[in-house]
Amino acid sequence: MKIDKILTLLLILAVAAFVTEAQTVNSGKKIAIINGKDLTDTQGKIINAHGGGFMKMGKYFYWIGENRHDNVLVSCYRSTDLLNWEFRGDLLTRRPNPELADANIERPKVIYNAKTKQFVMWMHYEKRSNYSLARTAVAVSADIEKPFTYQRSFRPFNNMSRDCTLFLDDDGSAYFFSSARENYDMMMYRLTDDFLDVKEQVATLWPGGHREAPAIVKRKGYYFMITSGCTGWAPNQAKYAVAKSIRGPWSELTNIADNTTYHSQSTYILPIIGKESTSYLYVGDRWDGKHYFNSKYIFLPLTFSNDTTMEMPWKDTCNINAIAGTVK
Ligand code: GAL
Repeated sequence: MKIDKILTLLLILAVAAFVTEAQTVNSGKKIAIINGKDLTDTQGKIINAHGGGFMKMGKYFYWIGENRHDNVLVSCYRSTDLLNWEFRGDLLTRRPNPELADANIERPKVIYNAKTKQFVMWMHYEKRSNYSLARTAVAVSADIEKPFTYQRSFRPFNNMSRDCTLFLDDDGSAYFFSSARENYDMMMYRLTDDFLDVKEQVATLWPGGHREAPAIVKRKGYYFMITSGCTGWAPNQAKYAVAKSIRGPWSELTNIADNTTYHSQSTYILPIIGKESTSYLYVGDRWDGKHYFNSKYIFLPLTFSNDTTMEMPWKDTCNINAIAGTVK
């Protein structure tokens, strides 16, 4: 090839690279999520919200998750488009309560109690040394952006409780799911009306099934739950189950995504209700267990071929339009 042809080819490649970059970052504003890359907030700092959960309040989406920096335990970000995230503050830190001084807090999830007008956070509570306590903990706040008041840690109905999530149903009842019996059983509890305690042990899902990292969503009258297997920080095959009633029966487990869930572990499924449609966003953690702060996030669209069948194809880039309600 002649030198001028090589130069032309190089120029074309450079322009192509620029265009790809411009699709995702446009004058500092993100217009898509690039999966598996560092995700920064509106100040350019890496987002620390692992094992997190999402919720919509007014015009904002909130993202609340683990932040292991210094004395912080749980941080809060907000966004109107699910792409550009503004850091709003730390919701739980080591200082205010002695029980938190040496705690390891994982998978915090927040729901709003319309009766008490409080935001309620449930999380996995351990001491920093190991995972043997296997307790849950609860904290509350009247303002989703302000520090939460820590309540207590405990084992629900005396069961071990590790990876967990909360689910607020349409009728206002709330459920807590968590891995029990050395992660062999996925327990389902109904919360008390104030959401501060467990009221009922509803079911033991897939006894002996060894599932964790639960994430739940309701779509067209069916409940879907994604869980992972139990291989610590190493990724494994995600599976999902479906139920017509949240109390069950839940279906058997079906594989979704590939055998490492595209090197991620489920943390949340967020419905995005827009003007054109409602879409369902999978959010997972791509953990780096050795270098925790090198962990990344994976955002992917969930697709449905009928009312009870769900797929999750891989995308290098996740294109979210929160106004239209589309994820591609
Ligand atoms: C995973 C769990 C994470 C964290 C990790 C520690 O299985 O989902 O939240 O606890 O183990 O090894």
